[in-house]
Amino acid sequence: MTEYQGTFTGSPDRLTDRPYWLGHIPFVMWLIGEVQPKVVVELGTETGVSLGAMCQAVNGLKLPTKIYGVDSWDGDINTGAYDASVYEDLTSYLETKNYGFVELVRSTFDSAVSRFADGSIDILHIDGCHTYDAVKHDFEVWRAKLSNRGVIMFHDTAVFRENFGVGRFWGEIASLFPSFEFSHSNGLGVLLIGPDQPLSLLRLSEAEGRQGVTLAPKAVMSIFEALGQCIIKGEEAERKAIVKCEEAERKAILKGEEADRKVREYEEGYVAIQASLTSVHALLAAETKKASHALALLKVERDLLTAEADRQVAMLKSFELERAALKTSIEVAQEQRLKILSSTSWRITAPLRTARPFLGRSLRLLRHVVKR
Ligand SMILES: C[S@@+](CC[C@H](N)C(=O)[O-])C[C@H]1O[C@@H](n2cnc3c(N)ncnc32)[C@H](O)[C@@H]1O
Repeated sequence: MTEYQGTFTGSPDRLTDRPYWLGHIPFVMWLIGEVQPKVVVELGTETGVSLGAMCQAVNGLKLPTKIYGVDSWDGDINTGAYDASVYEDLTSYLETKNYGFVELVRSTFDSAVSRFADGSIDILHIDGCHTYDAVKHDFEVWRAKLSNRGVIMFHDTAVFRENFGVGRFWGEIASLFPSFEFSHSNGLGVLLIGPDQPLSLLRLSEAEGRQGVTLAPKAVMSIFEALGQCIIKGEEAERKAIVKCEEAERKAILKGEEADRKVREYEEGYVAIQASLTSVHALLAAETKKASHALALLKVERDLLTAEADRQVAMLKSFELERAALKTSIEVAQEQRLKILSSTSWRITAPLRTARPFLGRSLRLLRHVVKR
């Protein structure tokens, strides 16, 4: 097994929300080391999981490799349309990695093919539209570009739902060249199309039984698969942990917002209470002022009434004195009258008082005669 040199280049650092390719990362990192390609072309890069792994391997092994990622970054009938953020996120990731050997070619596969000379590509990854016609077309258009050491990878050979036709095409092509296929992570068919292949890859193609089944290649493929599953499981665990963290963060934010809302409510309530307290104080002050004014008026009125009452009492007292004096004078007068009436002279002069009206008239008559 000396031909397997163990050129893994660390755990993958280009992980996105697309998990479909993750399980093939250990193999492709090893493949890069085995093929030591001058040119790698990927048809269908999207978020760059497979491209990122290949770049990481080239960088880690310090190979003089040029990698091209071709994609319209518009999506296709399998991925569905996606927005510009996919391309922008990938370019900014590659910028931070500062890889000088990778180029993103934003065009259709057919338009990009003329950029490459025949026999110039050592590894071609076909991972565009997955219908039978599209995969067959991509293979036929690009196959002349493969070098003598050329290796073609087909992704999604194990998906047979809807319009996926890679598996069908793989079934037609796999037996025409040395090849092997992984069934995990949607399947990856590896076609050793160039005549000059490293022994290690040819040994893996024997695992398919064309040159007699050998245990070691199968075991190696199982190791790649197991490593791939580790990445998938790790990624799933990380994704779950992220979801949990996000959920916890969301709950914390909600709690914080709730607490903020309550504090705001209390503050608003406090301000409202302060305002009503101020207005109650103002009202109280105004009412107190009014009441003390009214009290002062009442006191003045009370003083006036008291003075009037005193005056009336004084008047009453003087009237009583006056009445007592009058009573006394009446009593004296009555006494005198009684004395007079009972006196001798009053009784003697009684005839005179009776004759007085006649005397008066005679006198008036006499005066009248005298005047004439
Ligand atoms: C399945 S995704 C690629 C996944 C990627 N290899 C990864 O590791 O995640 C397929 C991509 O191929 C692109 N594509 C499909 N057909 C194309 C064509 N004819 N020309 C350009 N891009 C194409 C789509 O835009 C999409 O981004």
